[in-house]
Amino acid sequence: MQNKVTAIPFRGTPEQEAKLKEVIAAHKGQEGALMPVLQQAQDIYGYLPIEVQTMIAEGLEISLEQVYGVSTFYSWFNLEPKGEHLIRVCLGTACYVKGSADVLAELEKQLGVEAGHTTPDGKFTLEATRCLGCCGLAPVFVVDDEVYGRMTPADVKGILDKYRD
Ligand code: FES
Repeated sequence: MQNKVTAIPFRGTPEQEAKLKEVIAAHKGQEGALMPVLQQAQDIYGYLPIEVQTMIAEGLEISLEQVYGVSTFYSWFNLEPKGEHLIRVCLGTACYVKGSADVLAELEKQLGVEAGHTTPDGKFTLEATRCLGCCGLAPVFVVDDEVYGRMTPADVKGILDKYRD
């Protein structure tokens, strides 16, 4: 799911590329270089698009498959940029038994992306999470820092509209 191709174009700057090249040069030839380079590349760009993975593969002189394999294996690496608004839907037990999967399905339908992805206009990133610590309000989702409790699929559209300008 995480490796679905995104429609969001890559917009790296020459400054970011220069920083990445410094990081690559500092680690090249060292054992286990890939992991720290990927972590620092994500700090520089905020995510790891295929263009950045390609630069890393070429810079470290390893295959793109190797880079891709590691960046898709670990969940803390993002392959897509984060949207302007982050929506996190709780799939913890209390929320799940009260129907959060249906709320998530409605969000996916309304946004046209699956959980773990960002809408092509860069407006929303949708994520499923574990317990958010407000089970009394189940089922819950959070948009940025705003908590929405006792949600039903019918509530979803109205809430999204508030963020759609
Ligand atoms: S299970 Fe959803 S907030 Fe705790």
